[in-house]
Amino acid sequence: MIKKLLLFLTAVAVILSFCSCGQTMGKSLPTGKRDVLVVYFSRTGNTADTAKIIADYTQADIFTFSRQEPYPENLEECVAEASREMQNNIIPEITDQVKNIEKYNVIFLCYPIWLNSMPMPVITFMTENNLSDKYIIPVATHSGSGFGDSIQKIQKYAGNAKIMDGLSILNGNNQGLEDKLKEYRF
Ligand SMILES: Cc1cc2nc3c(=O)[nH]c(=O)nc-3n(C[C@H](O)[C@H](O)[C@H](O)COP(=O)(O)O)c2cc1C
Repeated sequence: MIKKLLLFLTAVAVILSFCSCGQTMGKSLPTGKRDVLVVYFSRTGNTADTAKIIADYTQADIFTFSRQEPYPENLEECVAEASREMQNNIIPEITDQVKNIEKYNVIFLCYPIWLNSMPMPVITFMTENNLSDKYIIPVATHSGSGFGDSIQKIQKYAGNAKIMDGLSILNGNNQGLEDKLKEYRF
């Protein structure tokens, strides 16, 4: 009986070790030359504030985009629109393109959590840009959900990017953010 149980537990451990369910690569970015880009999508400013602090501290370039057709200002309407878009897997047009994405090897990808996931325009960004081999640091602002399933979305849409442990920022509270950035050797 115990033997069977051990066999079962070993099988579960092996399956889990092959499954990339939200697995990330820690915080130790390599120390060589870094060309850093902070990318953000923000509807009401929380993510923008966080992204600007990160860009200042890491001396990075910064890039933002919105959905081509702006989301409703009314929160309920926005939730309904975001939900419709996600359920139908609509990849919407976005407003801007990064120039020279190939120049960067580290990308902070900053977004708000929507419906326990990421806004669809962030998926547009990932599908329009070749992020393979770049280090991506996910940065999510939210009101309690943490990352939701956004890390899995990055794993799905960011090619062979190296996805580092991310930063989860509750209610736009950026206190101590610089200390957290030091953990990535900035
Ligand atoms: C459409 C929509 C859906 C949201 N869904 C969630 C959610 O599932 N979990 C959560 O913690 N916060 C949720 N929020 C709150 C935002 O993630 C949070 O306020 C975020 O900091 C907003 O960032 P921004 O000011 O950059 O747009 C949602 C907000 C909107 C507009």
